[in-house]
Amino acid sequence: MPRAIISPSVLASDFGQLTAECERMIVGGAEWLHMDVMDGHFVPNITMGAPILSCVHKKVPGIFMDCHMMVSEPEKWVDDIADAGGAMYCFHHEATKDPIALIGKIHKRNMKAGVAISPDTPSTAISDEVANAADMLLVMTVYPGRGGQKFIDRCVPKVAELRARFPEKDIEVDGGVGPKTIGVCADAGSNVIVAGTAIFGAPNPESVIQELKDVVNTAQAKAKST
Ligand code: DX5
Ligand code: ZN
Repeated sequence: MPRAIISPSVLASDFGQLTAECERMIVGGAEWLHMDVMDGHFVPNITMGAPILSCVHKKVPGIFMDCHMMVSEPEKWVDDIADAGGAMYCFHHEATKDPIALIGKIHKRNMKAGVAISPDTPSTAISDEVANAADMLLVMTVYPGRGGQKFIDRCVPKVAELRARFPEKDIEVDGGVGPKTIGVCADAGSNVIVAGTAIFGAPNPESVIQELKDVVNTAQAKAKST
């Protein structure tokens, strides 16, 4: 089973001091930083793009930027995000006609490729061919577009379906995840955990990061022993 990775979503951070916020999370035990890129088209909001990611990357060398691309034409931004230092380029399955070609383009720029599905997209929309080509699958547990929403339970079986098909793949959950909802995600087989509000809103982010990691590790140990 792939190892537990916590990826705090900077959408819940103070954007006025983004680099310091990223550093604070790394000090607190975060391995990845989840960078929510929104284009005002695929989703109604606009957040940040490659120029901001590039500044963060220059100030925080070695940062693993897990870029969640909530954009309409994901093909268009691969080069810019790669140049900005993106490590994971996770696009929405709903936004592209040719995921295999896009994954190829991402890999050519030495980034990992992720495929995200929104709550209304079934996990079976991700074919074996696409999943095998990708490095990570992201099951959204809220509708993409803003932070602080309520976790949608009916998305969880999609994680289990994907984990059954792809035992070794990184499977990420994103949206409304925190100490109260991590249990079902971990039991379903998710190992990459995005949390915005739950981590940035906590008085001790490091203890939330540790707690989320512990729950994933415990679920994995349980799954192994049965
Ligand atoms: C939603 C974003 C999420 C969001 C998570 O569109 O993709 O990454 O910021 O934030 P919380 O954990 O607050 O739901
Ligand atoms: Zn996200």
